[in-house]
Amino acid sequence: MSASPHKYALGVIGTGHIAGVIVRRLIESGYLQPDRIIVTPSKNLAAHPMPRGVVVAANNAAAVKDSRLVMLSVTPQRFADAAVSIRPVVSADQLFISVMAGQSTARIASVLGGPQVRVVRAMPNLPFGLGRGVTGLFRGEAATDDDIEEARHFFNAGGVCVEVEREDLMNAVTAVAGSGPAYFYYFVEMMMKGGVAAGLKPEAAQVLAAHACVGAGAMLLQADASPAELRAAVTSPGGTTQAAMNKLTDCNVAEHVTQAVLAAYRRSQELGKLADG
Ligand SMILES: NC(=O)c1ccc[n+]([C@@H]2O[C@H](COP(=O)([O-])OP(=O)(O)OC[C@H]3O[C@@H](n4cnc5c(N)ncnc54)[C@H](OP(=O)(O)O)[C@@H]3O)[C@@H](O)[C@H]2O)c1
Repeated sequence: MSASPHKYALGVIGTGHIAGVIVRRLIESGYLQPDRIIVTPSKNLAAHPMPRGVVVAANNAAAVKDSRLVMLSVTPQRFADAAVSIRPVVSADQLFISVMAGQSTARIASVLGGPQVRVVRAMPNLPFGLGRGVTGLFRGEAATDDDIEEARHFFNAGGVCVEVEREDLMNAVTAVAGSGPAYFYYFVEMMMKGGVAAGLKPEAAQVLAAHACVGAGAMLLQADASPAELRAAVTSPGGTTQAAMNKLTDCNVAEHVTQAVLAAYRRSQELGKLADG
């Protein structure tokens, strides 16, 4: 990060579940030293303390005033209250990164002081904590090239980033990557069920299904090939995989999965309208 007159590199407003995951990863990856981070107090901190060295502010304004970069990670319905407490100390040289679902960059800027407030919106997912996350990014109206670059570096500490060019596409990011881990777990569960139906013990079925999926995922990320090409490579004509694929096709699973992702997308749009309303 560039030299800055601010005492802290990062102030965190809303020290809950996702903030804990992000802060821990930023420190573990070496992106930030703990004493460069200041967080707001929260009930969550008693049960899930921040890593040693992270500073706990007396209040929201104190966490923002001395921080060049501020992460907004309260629940969307609590943002209006949080904004009232920090608006008086927002300054022109600060960048706000919001991980809040459904709150538009225009609304965030507006409640923090006006359209000149620099905001980048991000939607990370939980594997961020293992360095295997994927984060969607959208650049608000006043955010600069340097701001989006900084947001990329920040979220690359926990995986990879995909920038979208229109804000409504953050709903698609949520539907594919935010909810994505649940689709994966569901598929593993169903594979386990099949294994158990074929006679395996549940524990063995879980190890086999989970490792088959995780190993395939690792190959997909390394290979210079599409998922369809990799699938074709394991599907010998007339073989076992072909028998399974025929069944998936007969049951129209492809269409159902597509519709499931679109249902998550529409729900994300609805929740965004309620939050911005
Ligand atoms: N969890 C995820 O996987 C995930 C992933 C991506 C994005 N997000 C987004 O991240 C945001 C937070 O989610 P979460 O799961 O971390 O929620 P959470 O665990 O409920 O954390 C929210 C935190 O905000 C604090 N808070 C509430 N009102 C506040 C205020 N006025 N000032 C300062 N702090 C305040 C709460 O403190 P108290 O407990 O003391 O009230 C709590 O620590 C949401 O907008 C969510 O959409 C979450």
